[in-house]
Amino acid sequence: MNFQLTEEQIAVQMAARDFAKNELLPGVIERDDQQKFATDQIKKLGELGFMGMMVDPKYGGSGMDTISYVLAMEEISKVDASVSVCMSVNNSLVCYGIEKYANEEQKQKYLVPLASGQKIGAFLLSEPEAGSDATSQRTTAEDKGDYYLLNGTKNWITNGNSASYYLVIAQTYPEKGHKGINVFIVEKEWAGVTVGAKENKMGIRSSDTHSIMFQDVKVPKENRIGEDGFGFKFAMQTLSGGRIGIAAQALGIASGAYELALKYSKERKAFGTEICNHQAIAFKLADMYTEITAARHLVMKAAWDKDEGNNYDMSSAMAKLYASKVAMEQTVEAVQIHGGNGFVKEYHVERLMRDAKITQIYEGTSEIQKIVISRTLIKG
Ligand code: CAA
Repeated sequence: MNFQLTEEQIAVQMAARDFAKNELLPGVIERDDQQKFATDQIKKLGELGFMGMMVDPKYGGSGMDTISYVLAMEEISKVDASVSVCMSVNNSLVCYGIEKYANEEQKQKYLVPLASGQKIGAFLLSEPEAGSDATSQRTTAEDKGDYYLLNGTKNWITNGNSASYYLVIAQTYPEKGHKGINVFIVEKEWAGVTVGAKENKMGIRSSDTHSIMFQDVKVPKENRIGEDGFGFKFAMQTLSGGRIGIAAQALGIASGAYELALKYSKERKAFGTEICNHQAIAFKLADMYTEITAARHLVMKAAWDKDEGNNYDMSSAMAKLYASKVAMEQTVEAVQIHGGNGFVKEYHVERLMRDAKITQIYEGTSEIQKIVISRTLIKG
């Protein structure tokens, strides 16, 4: 067992930390307030190689391991989880899904711009009536010979408006249930694609969340990924990796809040001394750090499983379940340590607390993670 990061991994962590401090921190409160997507900052993230971190350099990626990705996700999420969700979806759902399962032509056409940060991607699985119950797809992709006719609505789509390319999961053979589902690469500019209004959210407010509507969209046959009927397994396998990214996001939100709380407690005085000298606060800090370290170990283990070629369905579900719980609980504690100031936007912790909640909901709620974990335990 080796808990030591390599020099390369530390360099990635430092680069992400510097980027977050210099490029994301200025303006993060205004972006959250105004729900303004961080277009310029995400372009710069792409130039740094952070939008296709694990993709082979021959397809425009950075060829890094999952541990490096998780380190970068944590650092970016400490400061701006609205940016890190864009990064996570592009890296671990869209780029991973295309690199692992698409054919060479699809990779050249779509993966190269996505991995090099020239374009952004989105993952379209959720529907008004298919959130947790992902097999109940109502969006249809009717086989018309040399193309599919796509009709339906997708909801809560991260990068919905900023993405140029969508990975769309849709039902082709309703009678076959999940075995009749396909996955397609759809271009936003195609006729019949409409982007709905931006969601007005509690947290990750500057991320770009929309409904996407498809009306008689002609999708060329060559844009289907994998065998006919592979779409549901594609979604499940891709989401297992996505959950590592969201677990790292939750970890970053928690550790960002902890760092702010520690700093504040060493500066703020009450009853004649800095508040960190009161056990009421010192014990909170001890609990926070312990919980966050435990979450980090689960997140790193899931990333390590993926890098080692081990099955990571269960370790990614455990990492996401636990890290998101820690994020929710510890951001509340960070607000408490800040007292009245914690309730004020300029101290950042109220935003982190609002952002934490979504990590228990997207890419599978906490209950979904428990389904994945318990089924694996019971099957043995
Ligand atoms: N890898 C490969 N195949 C898998 C798999 C995996 N990890 N998990 C399930 N499957 C396969 C099963 O083997 C089964 O295939 P067979 O019938 O051939 O054996 C098939 O998929 C159906 O599996 P289940 O019977 O387990 O399906 P289920 O209906 O009971 O649901 C579920 C399973 C885990 C609850 C699933 O529906 C799920 O994960 N739901 C949550 C969906 C989700 O995470 N949505 C997030 C949206 S994306 C998002 O949030 C992105 C964003 O914008 C931030």
